[in-house]
Amino acid sequence: KSIVVLISGSGSNLQAMIDACDSGIIQNARIAAVVSNKADAYGLERARQAGIDIVHLAASDYSDRETYDRVLAERIDAFQPDLVILAGFMRILSHEFVRHYQGRMLNVHPSLLPKYTGLHTHQRAIDAGDKEHGTSVHFVTEELDGGPVILQAKVPIFDTDTAEEVMARVQEQEHRIYPLVANWFLQGRVCMAEGKAVFDGLPL
Ligand code: GRF
Repeated sequence: KSIVVLISGSGSNLQAMIDACDSGIIQNARIAAVVSNKADAYGLERARQAGIDIVHLAASDYSDRETYDRVLAERIDAFQPDLVILAGFMRILSHEFVRHYQGRMLNVHPSLLPKYTGLHTHQRAIDAGDKEHGTSVHFVTEELDGGPVILQAKVPIFDTDTAEEVMARVQEQEHRIYPLVANWFLQGRVCMAEGKAVFDGLPL
């Protein structure tokens, strides 16, 4: 099976996927390519070190989102992915792009969805006085951070925590649960049907 991973930054979730393919947590799959909209994304260096093909597409080279997304899809499809993984890809995706990959594109969002869609989730959870926070792996649909959730992991928020400390705790969990879900998807255990996530035949 073939995976394409989209990133914009550090790529720690990409690294977790690379490691999971190596260790067999993700079975019979390879990351065919890593795509970034940022030339200086550290994740590209991780891909290089793992011998994975790299694609860089700068938004400034395209006149509008639709054109960018059309080229992005062409470049992704050249690798014939079974699964497209968003791992810190910091761009809004056009509806056309999302529809094209509906049911085979996953995202990890750093909150216990449906709480805190969008940005700055860790600080917002702290400011709200929440005692727990977490991360969600979900199918990508046209609603931003709104697709059906497959798996979540919770972490505590302690009184003295900074947003950075909470983020580190959340990311540790992302690195565990995102490869698990990717593997379930590739083994056919998880899918999207009628807008819902389904696990082993049962709606979640
Ligand atoms: C992750 O925390 C993820 O939840 C969010 O962006 C961050 C990406 O981090 N979507 P990294 O690039 O995988 O280190």
